[in-house]
Amino acid sequence: MARTGHRASLLLVLAVATSVLLLAAGATAQGCANATFPAGRSFERCDTLPVLGASLHWTYHAGNGTAELAFRAPSGSGGWVAWGINTAGAGMAGSSVFVASQNAGGAVSVLTTVLESTSPSLKNGTLKFDVPVPPTAEYAGGAYTIYVTVALPGNSTTQNTVWQAGPVSSAGAILPHPMSGANLHSVKRRDFLSG
Ligand SMILES: *[C@@H]1O[C@H](CO)[C@@H](O)[C@H](O)[C@H]1NC(C)=O
Ligand SMILES: *[C@@H]1O[C@H](CO)[C@@H](O)[C@H](O)[C@H]1NC(C)=O
Ligand SMILES: *[C@@H]1O[C@H](CO)[C@@H](O)[C@H](O)[C@H]1NC(C)=O
Ligand SMILES: *[C@@H]1O[C@H](CO)[C@@H](O)[C@H](O)[C@H]1NC(C)=O
Repeated sequence: MARTGHRASLLLVLAVATSVLLLAAGATAQGCANATFPAGRSFERCDTLPVLGASLHWTYHAGNGTAELAFRAPSGSGGWVAWGINTAGAGMAGSSVFVASQNAGGAVSVLTTVLESTSPSLKNGTLKFDVPVPPTAEYAGGAYTIYVTVALPGNSTTQNTVWQAGPVSSAGAILPHPMSGANLHSVKRRDFLSG
């Protein structure tokens, strides 16, 4: 009798664990397809990225080779998130990135920088592709959203993309991201025609 009770509670634990997993999967899928944006912003396609709870939303315009994008990723207010395209290979070094962070007053800004190495200088500057519309970002509901318009490098719809999240110092400086786990898997070769 005690044994049966033990088994029943084990099964209950498994059932609860399974439904929590399913709920989590549902929330992730919902994060992409059912994501909402401020009035005037909408995107034709989206992809729930495999790590860091991030999602990418975009509309590709074949006529002028541009993509309007929204990159969304959860973060505490004392953190930064980034998205970018690597025109020089795959991975971090060589990527042209957009980094969103906020100051102590909650003002969100976007830094655009080419990561010269894995210890980048993070100088705000121009990227390796055209950015026809100044990027903006917002922080709401525990997530940053970076709005970006890019001329896809080489007018190619397939690009090596990267994304990341990390901490900001109390003085507002962007500090290195964690060097393990999910933070080392935030790369994806993306086809802007699918998703
Ligand atoms: C999006 O919302 C609709 C309506 O609320 C729902 O039917 C649908 O399953 C949701 N899609 C995802 C991917 O969660
Ligand atoms: C690219 O083309 C689309 C669709 O015609 C247009 O809405 C958009 O403003 C254009 N983008 C740029 C940067 O010219
Ligand atoms: C980009 O490529 C498309 C075809 O994929 C072409 O229609 C368009 O004219 C090209 N745009 C630019 C700016 O080169
Ligand atoms: C980077 O420069 C742009 C253009 O001057 C500016 O709008 C933006 O706020 C700067 N970003 C940061 C983080 O200083």
